Amino acid sequence: MNARSTNSNENVKGSWCPRIPSGKVIYLIGFMASGKTSVGRMLAERLSVPFVDSDDLVRFSAGLDIPQIFKERGEKAFRDLESSALYRLSRLRNVVVATGGGAVLSEKNRALMKETGFVVWLDVPLEEAVRRAEGGLARTDSRPLLGKAADLYGIRIPLYSSTAHLKVDTAGKLPGAVCDEVLRGIELYARSMTGRWEHGQISAVTVTPEGDAARSYEVMVGAGVLKGAANTLAASRTLQKRSESQARPPGETAAGKPPGGRAETSTGRSGKRVVLVSDPLVYCLYGKDLEDQLQSEGFTVLRFLFAGDEASKNMRTVEEAYDFLAQNGVTRDTVLMSIGGGVVGDLAGFVAATYMRGIPFVQVPTTLLAQIDASVGGKVAVDHPLAKNLIGTFYHPLLVMADVETLSSLPDSEYRQGLAEMVKYALIEGEDMVLAIEGSLKDILARNPSTLIELVSRCVKIKAKIVSQDERDYGVRQFLNLGHTLGHALESVTGYKKGDGGLSHGDAVAIGLHWACRVSEESGLTGRGLSARVKNLLERLGLPTRVDALEIDRDAVLSAMRLDKKARAGSIRLALPRHPGRLEIRELQDIPQNVLNETLDEVLS
Ligand SMILES: NC(=O)c1ccc[n+]([C@@H]2O[C@H](COP(=O)([O-])OP(=O)(O)OC[C@H]3O[C@@H](n4cnc5c(N)ncnc54)[C@H](O)[C@@H]3O)[C@@H](O)[C@H]2O)c1
Repeated sequence: MNARSTNSNENVKGSWCPRIPSGKVIYLIGFMASGKTSVGRMLAERLSVPFVDSDDLVRFSAGLDIPQIFKERGEKAFRDLESSALYRLSRLRNVVVATGGGAVLSEKNRALMKETGFVVWLDVPLEEAVRRAEGGLARTDSRPLLGKAADLYGIRIPLYSSTAHLKVDTAGKLPGAVCDEVLRGIELYARSMTGRWEHGQISAVTVTPEGDAARSYEVMVGAGVLKGAANTLAASRTLQKRSESQARPPGETAAGKPPGGRAETSTGRSGKRVVLVSDPLVYCLYGKDLEDQLQSEGFTVLRFLFAGDEASKNMRTVEEAYDFLAQNGVTRDTVLMSIGGGVVGDLAGFVAATYMRGIPFVQVPTTLLAQIDASVGGKVAVDHPLAKNLIGTFYHPLLVMADVETLSSLPDSEYRQGLAEMVKYALIEGEDMVLAIEGSLKDILARNPSTLIELVSRCVKIKAKIVSQDERDYGVRQFLNLGHTLGHALESVTGYKKGDGGLSHGDAVAIGLHWACRVSEESGLTGRGLSARVKNLLERLGLPTRVDALEIDRDAVLSAMRLDKKARAGSIRLALPRHPGRLEIRELQDIPQNVLNETLDEVLS
């Protein structure tokens, strides 16, 4: 294991570092050449949080450079893209964001930044700004508005001033000095700082699908794992061995040629080429650094970005990925590495499984749900218009690197998705784990890395144990469906809409968990008390236990449950808890209709 990955604070040892006030976003605003990017990078490094330049998110999302957007679509289109990028960034936590000089022109942007973050204005005199901008290699091209500097300056200064929580004068100062001032300002602003997170050790869990040692792989869980990811990849013996054998399947002697492409041009060492698959947001937050790291470890890196939302988890994106791989001459000795949530992992895994009959696959999950669930167990799939995850296969990664520090930037709504699954694991595992969650609610909600390392690795261990007995859902793996039969039905009847008019997966699963406990109680599988305890736990984690504010018809839910793709030969199998640690599988048709009706009415009203 890579010692470098155990401590992400190495680079800031000895430096003084406050915490970001209440986990907020730190926005840097200011005129062109005020140093937002260079100071932002430094600040992020000092605070050990990711840095995102909002212009990067705009260009990676649009697939066009900023000057091209101005030229081809006009300033209005750019401003719209900028506002939607800022909105996405405003939902994050613990991240430093450099904004474009004109971001403050929109009242909506100004209000959004003030409300969701700590806004730092890097003030620079006009003459110095122009001098700095002209000093940097003929940058007029990438600064389409430079010519109008004086006019813009007059308009923007009052807007920076009215938006900022903190103003830092940058005149004649180097970025390091400005960064120190910003840090001091943060300290004054947030007096509640109490040192930094304590990092636990990395925990490694081995997954051995159906007990087949030849297919086993490691899931690393820790804080700072990502900082050593390239090094870990280069050092991974499993990856070396397995990618070599994948590159030369029985009956073939060479790594194979891409369809219509050139012969492989990698250095010849297995895994020396990496295709990074991500979405633009995660790429800006963590992927860029990973790419730099991989390059300095000697890897050649290719990058495939796609929207990364559920609507893009389909065969069209898969085809685009195949085109990309084939056009770039990717063969079986190239590692496909996904970094992102479950959508990115599922799609990347499906592509890795099917392209050239399988290429080495490595996962870097960055959502709680992906770390404890989606990245472990080998299910990879994309959606079909008729059903979610309809097209897929079983394909295990060769290595999973889960860095709990990446969870600090997750929007609350996304973090909650994973918390529902964590409660599910606890009910499968037993009293100990339920108590562990009940006893660390504050730390869980504060995303304390030590607590998360402990809980994420416990969840991974549970999934690893289940997958080692039943990879393909015929036996104990059905326990993982606890809460999901109703959860999927609720998502289905509300049209898989996460926000308005629908329920997110995690919220639906939380309601499903509470309902499963109620069914157990009403069918005499367990005594009264379990559902109240689980309800209390879910609610304290911020999860719903009934459908509020949505009209959902009970019969529609029952029909949706009967259509669940996990039904076998027409029978729906429900995982029901007797008590934490003891689950039973029951046929839906064996549950008395009055129990189904009454318990459903309770959670649907
Ligand atoms: N393969 C499996 O066994 C399995 C299991 C469960 C779920 N899934 C699949 O997982 C998907 C849901 O995954 P999800 O809940 O991870 O959501 P997601 O992949 O849709 O990601 C949610 C959002 O979070 C953003 N994001 C990711 N990491 C971030 C970070 N560290 N900081 C800030 N933002 C970040 C992403 O850009 C995205 O906008 C579904 O498609 C589901 O079918 C698969």
